[in-house]
Amino acid sequence: MADILIIYSTTDGHTVTICNRIKQALDPQGHRVVIVSVNESSEVDLNAFDKIVIGASIRYGRHSQQIVKFIRLNEQILDSKPNAFFSVNVVARKPEKCQPATNPYLQKFLKRISWKPKKLAVFAGKIDYPRYTPFDRFMIRLIMWITKGPTEPTAVIEFTNWQQVEEFARLIGEM
Ligand SMILES: Cc1cc2nc3c(=O)[nH]c(=O)nc-3n(C[C@H](O)[C@H](O)[C@H](O)COP(=O)(O)O)c2cc1C
Repeated sequence: MADILIIYSTTDGHTVTICNRIKQALDPQGHRVVIVSVNESSEVDLNAFDKIVIGASIRYGRHSQQIVKFIRLNEQILDSKPNAFFSVNVVARKPEKCQPATNPYLQKFLKRISWKPKKLAVFAGKIDYPRYTPFDRFMIRLIMWITKGPTEPTAVIEFTNWQQVEEFARLIGEM
């Protein structure tokens, strides 16, 4: 049974929903899972955990700079424990881009950092047009139109494959 820390970065909360699903899968196995925003990560003693997982969503092609900073600052301690990283983005809704090796954002991200996560995952995110600012709505609809995704301005669509999330949780439990 392990103490597992999940550090996340989110804009609209979907990455937190994924973190909660991972926790729900691990709790019944007796693991203690603590979920903390990267914004509050300086208040957490990383040494108190057996395993560390980091999850971050993509916004306009990038993971948050805070996640990059957190990783750079804590690389040594991350490396000293079982660890994992997952990315959340809507490009991953496409079967040919839903694996760590084939998702362009994850591949680009791994080139930006020197940390080599021991386990990797990519999850398709959520589109929630009514929630976005007019500018963001316009931009995401444009991107969706170009990539043949949904453009209906009232659409709320969760592309996440929850089975894939649960499989990742299983790997975290075993690592
Ligand atoms: C303003 C904005 C920009 C986004 N840019 C991208 C992008 O460049 N590529 C992509 O695949 N997904 C993009 N997305 C989709 C998000 O990654 C997806 O909605 C994800 O579920 C967001 O997770 P979060 O709620 O944890 O931030 C964008 C979403 C928003 C709202």
